[in-house]
Amino acid sequence: MKHFLTLKDYTKDEILEIITLGLRIKAEVKAKRFTPYLEKQTLAMIFEKSSTRTRVSFETGIYQLGGMGLFLSSRDIQLGRGEPMKDTARVISRMCDMVMIRTYSQKQLEEFAGFSQVPVINGLTDEYHPVQLMADYMTMIEHGKEQNPVVAYVGDGNNMAHSWLMLASKLGFELRIATPKGYECNPEIVEDAIEFAKESGATILFTDDPGEAIVNADVVTTDTWVSMGDEGEKEKRIKDFAGYTVDDAMMKRAKADAIFLHCLPAYRGFEVTEEVLEGAQSVVFDEAENRLHAQKGVMVWLDGKRDEV
Ligand code: CP
Ligand code: NVA
Repeated sequence: MKHFLTLKDYTKDEILEIITLGLRIKAEVKAKRFTPYLEKQTLAMIFEKSSTRTRVSFETGIYQLGGMGLFLSSRDIQLGRGEPMKDTARVISRMCDMVMIRTYSQKQLEEFAGFSQVPVINGLTDEYHPVQLMADYMTMIEHGKEQNPVVAYVGDGNNMAHSWLMLASKLGFELRIATPKGYECNPEIVEDAIEFAKESGATILFTDDPGEAIVNADVVTTDTWVSMGDEGEKEKRIKDFAGYTVDDAMMKRAKADAIFLHCLPAYRGFEVTEEVLEGAQSVVFDEAENRLHAQKGVMVWLDGKRDEV
């Protein structure tokens, strides 16, 4: 049994296999063919933080696969009143076939997975957001950006930046990360990425100059400056991230046919301008839709049904 907690645990071939599964299931569903690969299975979806895309895509996704999703907000379940993760994990995993959790620390997620009898999927932690990256890479493939792409990430060294580090270092493409001083990526995650990059041939650049990151990029991406849990630092962050807004002038430094990605929700006027988000290069709503398709690939793969698709 394998969990999906971080791309660190996955090989390049496995990542590509999951995305291919997702693309095949997407094509089937677009042709109105719904194969019940996960018939009668229940996906428990535990949320300790808010969500629009993750909740809707997992709940719809499991339904399209013939199963059902159970939305469990920590505001309502006993976890929110102090029941330990390890007890919650043992109870839920005796009743459900798969669990998705959105929580704070990766450690909590790992603890849950350690006590779970069924596969656990990371629906976002403070450290990583791996299912988002599966959708992002699927979107890159659909927009013809999978051949040796140069990806520029401009903004906070957060869960999205860490997840890009894992994807690039596993798949072997060029990633440039521009963060302001004091908002760099977690050094342990950087170290892991550098190790993986030695094997895959990925090139990773860290800078505090967004212009340097973006020049001639094929893909430009950013994320909120104020992640869930960082709200208390909002004012300071807005000051510290001055100069990091992805605007038209920045996009002009990228390749003329570069695409813009953002996991959403976006905060217009902060990490990205309205013009870029709504502009011709932005594919953020394709990206959001691909959460639905990529995660079906993840669920079917974890269930061991990969040869049936
Ligand atoms: N991108 C993403 O995970 O969005 P939600 O927070 O709405 O789930
Ligand atoms: N970095 C953001 C991503 C939201 C989908 C956060 O953790 O809040």
